Amino acid sequence: MNFTQFHNGNNMPSVGLGVFRVENNDTAKDAVKHAIQSGYRSIDAAFIYGNETKVGEGIAEGIKAANISRDDLFITSKLWLDDYGKNNVKEAYEKSLNLLGLDYLDLYLMHWPGTDADLMLNTWEGLEALYNQQLVKNIGVSNFNIDHLDILLNKATVKPVLNQVEFHPYLTQTELRNYLNKHDIKMESWSPLMNAEILQDEVVNNIATEINKSPAQVIIRWNIDHDVITIPKSVTPSRIEENYDVFNFSLNEEQMQQLDALNQNKRIGPNPAEFNG
Ligand SMILES: NC(=O)c1ccc[n+]([C@@H]2O[C@H](COP(=O)([O-])OP(=O)(O)OC[C@H]3O[C@@H](n4cnc5c(N)ncnc54)[C@H](OP(=O)(O)O)[C@@H]3O)[C@@H](O)[C@H]2O)c1
Repeated sequence: MNFTQFHNGNNMPSVGLGVFRVENNDTAKDAVKHAIQSGYRSIDAAFIYGNETKVGEGIAEGIKAANISRDDLFITSKLWLDDYGKNNVKEAYEKSLNLLGLDYLDLYLMHWPGTDADLMLNTWEGLEALYNQQLVKNIGVSNFNIDHLDILLNKATVKPVLNQVEFHPYLTQTELRNYLNKHDIKMESWSPLMNAEILQDEVVNNIATEINKSPAQVIIRWNIDHDVITIPKSVTPSRIEENYDVFNFSLNEEQMQQLDALNQNKRIGPNPAEFNG
């Protein structure tokens, strides 16, 4: 398994399972359990996905089935905008822990920056308090642009370990990636498969044929080779396995460049500069 190391010395698996738009029923439980049995050690949850209960059951069953311990896993959840404000963070964190059936998270993220910079900074102080009290292993942000990060880094006493953002070959985020590199903050990609849209791309398919891998494997490998942590979502057992079978090959420079050249700065999600829940 591949890990990425944060500036604080902690490690995170480079590939995990996403669970957005998965219903809070056995689909969520079975996907998480199957992922853990297939070798995944990282699960990307969020309070707003409304499925932390079943994701938590999947984690518990996966731990048993794979004969591992909780500490072998890396579990992420995210603070939703309704719970922003320093004094609300601990309660929201505990709410997610209770739903997931866990006593700590490996990573807690601010889900969006929001449009109120003061509230953003005040909320980050709440995450810093959790981290300083050792209630959470790592803290980070999601959907932060360079402008948001400039404001945050100017005031933060604990630097985020990562920024989880939309990233795929149609949105390569070069400027943001360079900025994060400079500050030793990792990038993590959401919708790495562009919610399956990128899997239809001709260049992606040509590379997949060339190296005898699937289009999804090409994209996930493109993330790893860019040092971007990724969390493809699938509830299909064969795809869950396929998406994790990416550690025995890499892309050459030409293939990386071909994929990079697909950039159109095209988002499928909201614009972080405007989104406020
Ligand atoms: N921080 C944020 O604001 C934010 C926003 C969006 C997402 N996220 C996180 O990022 C994760 C991933 O993003 P996403 O769920 O939007 O989309 P995604 O991972 O880009 O794509 C998921 C879609 O691709 C399909 N798929 C997966 N593997 C495949 C394969 N090997 N071959 C063909 N199709 C495949 C899935 O179908 P099946 O499931 O039917 O197999 C599903 O329809 C989320 O689940 C969530 O954890 C975070």
